[in-house]
Amino acid sequence: MANISYINGVYCNIQDAKVSINDRGYHFGDAVYEVILYNNGIFYDYDGHIKRLFNSLKLINIKFHLSEQQLKIIIKNLFKLNRVNFGSIYIQVSRGVADRNHSYFELNSNPILTMIVSKKKNNIFDDIKGVRAITMFDNRWSRPDIKTTQLLPNVLAKTYANEKNAYEGIFIDSEGYITEGSSSNIWMINNKNEILTREIDGKILSGITRKTIAEFAKKNDFSLIERKFTKDELFHSNEVFLTSASSFVTPIVEIDNIKINNGIIGKTSIELRNLYFKNFMN
Ligand code: PDD
Repeated sequence: MANISYINGVYCNIQDAKVSINDRGYHFGDAVYEVILYNNGIFYDYDGHIKRLFNSLKLINIKFHLSEQQLKIIIKNLFKLNRVNFGSIYIQVSRGVADRNHSYFELNSNPILTMIVSKKKNNIFDDIKGVRAITMFDNRWSRPDIKTTQLLPNVLAKTYANEKNAYEGIFIDSEGYITEGSSSNIWMINNKNEILTREIDGKILSGITRKTIAEFAKKNDFSLIERKFTKDELFHSNEVFLTSASSFVTPIVEIDNIKINNGIIGKTSIELRNLYFKNFMN
């Protein structure tokens, strides 16, 4: 169990890591976050995640006090202290502590940086299992491209999916196109063997794993098309998979009780998953 966490300058046992009830992250979800996978000395897509963190901070006008270099030192220290071989780090920056007031106009709060390390079961080399998903209306706000902790629609979607014995909830926009999963980006492979994933159009999070997988696909001569696709295209596809820092590349074999490829995991999903892991091996 990884139990040393970090809270604004202090490394401490997770039970002692406390934030104020006036933290704006707690009141308003006025905070941004990142999750980075770690495997045996290597952080997956580290630079991409940190760049996106700083971009999220900028997008919601949080004036952060640390440099990328200072942040890296803390992250490395935390992994050393926790002696974790395989796991992930959750990094959150809230706008800070202030009396409850929606507006942050002229507020001079100090951002609160918190980090939690989680140990994960290393199942990289296990036989991968395909998962089930269900679709649902995308009822999120109009800026899902910003990685904020304000995730209630995602929380409800994932829970609803789990209640229906599914691993992921896939959001559909008002025009019937897939946006993304509640905590992942969604991909499909059509019968022309083209890999499709929605373009970065402001309606999805610009996934870091998505970017890496897109690069692998191009480098390995797969034909990749970044465009939106419908639920019907998804049902008639050869393969569907999701990507995220916590679920890597995970094949989806059934959506809304309809089997994809007769419920059999496709070979391209496996190939991309293996490429992802191999790329970050020591
Ligand atoms: N979620 N879309 C959403 C809505 C997400 O929450 C995530 C990741 C992704 C994939 O992004 P990335 O490849 O950068 O992890 C797409 C993280 C893992 C989480 O909330 O725990």
